Amino acid sequence: MSEHGTKICIQNFKRQINGKEAREKLFEVTGVLDGIILFDKPYKRTQLYITFNTKENEQLAYDKIKSGNANWKVFIQEEKNKGKRNREGDDNNNASKKQKSDEPPKTVSQVVTPLAHLTYEEQLKHKETQHLDLIKKNYFAKLQSRDFDFTKNKKTSEDEFDWRGIIPSPVINGYRNNCEFTCAKDDSGKNSVGFLLGSFVEGKTTVSGVDDCLHISQTSKMLVKKMQALIDEAGQDCYNKVDNKGFWRQMKVRENSHQECLVAIQINPYYNKDLVQDKVLCEDMKNLIRKHFDLNKESDGVLCKGLFVQHYGGISNAAPIDSYLEKLCGQDSFVETLGSYKFNVSPYSFFQVNSRGAETLYGIASEWAMQTGSDQKPILLDVCCGTGTIGLFMSSKVEKIFGIDNNESACRDAEQNAKANQVENAQYICGKAEEVLRDLLKKENLNTVEEGRLVAVVDPPRAGLHPNVLKAILNCNSLTCL
Ligand SMILES: C[S@@+](CC[C@H](N)C(=O)[O-])C[C@H]1O[C@@H](n2cnc3c(N)ncnc32)[C@H](O)[C@@H]1O
Repeated sequence: MSEHGTKICIQNFKRQINGKEAREKLFEVTGVLDGIILFDKPYKRTQLYITFNTKENEQLAYDKIKSGNANWKVFIQEEKNKGKRNREGDDNNNASKKQKSDEPPKTVSQVVTPLAHLTYEEQLKHKETQHLDLIKKNYFAKLQSRDFDFTKNKKTSEDEFDWRGIIPSPVINGYRNNCEFTCAKDDSGKNSVGFLLGSFVEGKTTVSGVDDCLHISQTSKMLVKKMQALIDEAGQDCYNKVDNKGFWRQMKVRENSHQECLVAIQINPYYNKDLVQDKVLCEDMKNLIRKHFDLNKESDGVLCKGLFVQHYGGISNAAPIDSYLEKLCGQDSFVETLGSYKFNVSPYSFFQVNSRGAETLYGIASEWAMQTGSDQKPILLDVCCGTGTIGLFMSSKVEKIFGIDNNESACRDAEQNAKANQVENAQYICGKAEEVLRDLLKKENLNTVEEGRLVAVVDPPRAGLHPNVLKAILNCNSLTCL
């Protein structure tokens, strides 16, 4: 909550967009708004609420939004619960999920790995209970309400359900090959780098070091220290979301299994025009960054294969995928190995975060995909294939792979990965699975191949699969293994 007790409410905002998209829309219409401390866009509602640090910033924002040429109604309203303020205080509906003001502050490890206090066996049990619960609620409950047309070979009762438990990861500590560390003030006000101690919506903008985080590798921890030394020597402020000011924003680290890393440092290009002009970072700063990240395997245990600066001045946490990337030295990508296959990975492309865990997962998926009951090799649909890792991992065991992904560059990477691994039985289709799957099944006569011979692997983004993709899969008689 603000000290002045009011917030801005915008009405007629697009209903079905999330907070990140709403921030981007607001930024597009108004440009930078100084002093935002809370941003609340309830999904499926047409209101957007913004709280500012000062009455002056609220008034400036109000004027900008009003003249912003969007079909919005904007007014200033009183905040509810004024007087019941707590440290995280906002009037968002998720208040129950937030840390209460009388609870001791959480450590970074408690925030990012909330199960870390349990043994690994206890964590697996916890995961199993959660998953079984979800399956019961979503799968069997839907089955009874007949939301889906479950036909033959689909499990129809809990007794038939062949639950094999949660398979443990072969690596438990330091397994993450991809991390984003935030540059911000720590609790004492010092420019620092680490993980945020909560979310912005909870009113948390400070970071703490990552040394206690078990899932972060020694290499990443060492790189966080290098970044801290760079921040200390350079002297610029870290980015502050509240007033949209500051230079250092983030450090992204990617590691492979060959003691190599890619480092991309995100900066705010609007901070100081002496530092960045026309999308080019000044030579002095480039040299300083190079000096701190000039790593070699002998002294640092890891070789920096590529060093980049990402320019991003927007207010949301996630920079758009096409944000300007300036290469300071090295290569555009490095190679990661899964099983006997090699994959090109660039700083911002999707890749499974636990390489050894991915091998285990793909191995099991591959084993199941072979159990088709047919004498012939299966045909594989790799839905949401990304850069093709799952299908390519199975390529020697299947007759043909059809990979589908809506991201053109991911499809291009998949084609290159197939070539680099001498895989000749893979074909990639760029398009939304919900739009291209049905036609593909028809065009390649996949609906009529021997029953059971067609196998699908799906690895959709968090939002899940489009219902049309599910329907196409469920209605395809030759496909009984998903
Ligand atoms: C979790 S990633 C999986 C990538 C890949 N299976 C891998 O492990 O490397 C999800 C992928 O789904 C793709 N995607 C998202 N929506 C899609 C859609 N509607 N149709 C097809 N692909 C989609 C994204 O581009 C992304 O590559």
